[in-house]
Amino acid sequence: MRSLIDILDFSVEEIDVLIAAADKIIENPAEYAEKCRGKKLATLFYEPSTRTRLSFEAAMMELGGNVIGFSEAASSSAAKGESIADTARIISCYADIIAMRHPKEGAPLIAAKYASIPVINAGDGGHNHPTQTLTDLLTIAREKKRLSSLTVGLCGDLKFGRTVHSLICAMARYSDVKFVLISPDELKLPSYVKKDVLKKNNIPYLQTASLEEAMPELDILYMTRVQRERFFNEEDYLRLKDSYILDKNKLAGAKDDLIIMHPLPRVNEIDPSVDDDPRACYFRQANYGKYIRMALILKLLEIS
Ligand code: NCD
Repeated sequence: MRSLIDILDFSVEEIDVLIAAADKIIENPAEYAEKCRGKKLATLFYEPSTRTRLSFEAAMMELGGNVIGFSEAASSSAAKGESIADTARIISCYADIIAMRHPKEGAPLIAAKYASIPVINAGDGGHNHPTQTLTDLLTIAREKKRLSSLTVGLCGDLKFGRTVHSLICAMARYSDVKFVLISPDELKLPSYVKKDVLKKNNIPYLQTASLEEAMPELDILYMTRVQRERFFNEEDYLRLKDSYILDKNKLAGAKDDLIIMHPLPRVNEIDPSVDDDPRACYFRQANYGKYIRMALILKLLEIS
């Protein structure tokens, strides 16, 4: 039995197969409408979510399965003090697969240890978000037609942004990928990601505070929200929240075939005037999220 806790739990080959499976689902969704008949997905969300939870639920429904779960810790037994281990054991009696989001780093890993069904990490604190990364990889594969030979600019909150950490781990395995890390000094990529992923694998990267300077080089611009909920004080958040606002002027020096991505939700970091630019693909990206999650559910339930 497999779970997905860290994006590196899947090999590059397995990710290729998943992307190909998602492409097939996009081409012919009707063929998949009964694949999970009689199966249940439990969504255990201890933190807010729109896209991740609802795309998981829509994914399971479009596979003909059912969904149970909760969308806030307060409405679960966590509010009474139940441990993750016990919750995981119990949900294993009620469902066939779990998607869990939790504010504590490592919580889904604990759940996977005690569950007797597959567990999917749907975001753990400021740590990882592997299913967003699968979404991002499908987006890049479809929009750029390749996952190698790319210069990837990551902009915003690289410190707390879990989608950034997982995406760097995943992209570092493809050839000829370079990263441009664009953030204010206080929101730089954590040193463990730099050391264990970038330096260890000799991946070229550049750190800068200037989005304008980085722009002409980029094949992908991955914007992120400043993660208010992870800050220790509101003052720091208020000072840093509008560090980068992408607008039409800032795109002046960009490549014609740049793609602009964002895991969403956006707050202020992309001006809505950018939405009509053909290079903006964040809404398509959100749509791809459902299809890759359909492919993932099928993989983990070993349904072909
Ligand atoms: C991201 C997350 O939860 O980390 N959202 C998502 O799942 N699409 C990004 C964010 O909240 O900023």
